[in-house]
Amino acid sequence: MTAAHAPKGWLNACDTRALVLGRVLEIPLPSETDRPLTALLVRDGKGCPRAYLNLCQHLPIPLDAGGGRFLSADGSHLVCQTHGAAYRLSDGVCERGPCLGKVLVALLVQERAGRLFIKCP
Ligand code: FES
Repeated sequence: MTAAHAPKGWLNACDTRALVLGRVLEIPLPSETDRPLTALLVRDGKGCPRAYLNLCQHLPIPLDAGGGRFLSADGSHLVCQTHGAAYRLSDGVCERGPCLGKVLVALLVQERAGRLFIKCP
């Protein structure tokens, strides 16, 4: 995998420096339906990049409900803005809310040559 090209099925998401602690990047994914599909790219508490589908596990709607807000006030969880489900950054497990114990759909992430690549679902 080179910096400029991603193998089939992988998305060249961003410069690794663009993903700073406490920030979420929303990355458009290829979709075979008329519904837009995005990934959420975030660094967990240890600085490891994680990617999840932007899809709540309570109802199949985006976590931000279109508002562009994803993190809890302390930056420790991805939070669904509709009913408040709070998902751990490190593994996507819901720790609070109506889908307690369910897990966000994780996508593989690779960091190479200063770029972050996401494996498309
Ligand atoms: S739709 Fe996300 S918690 Fe209900």
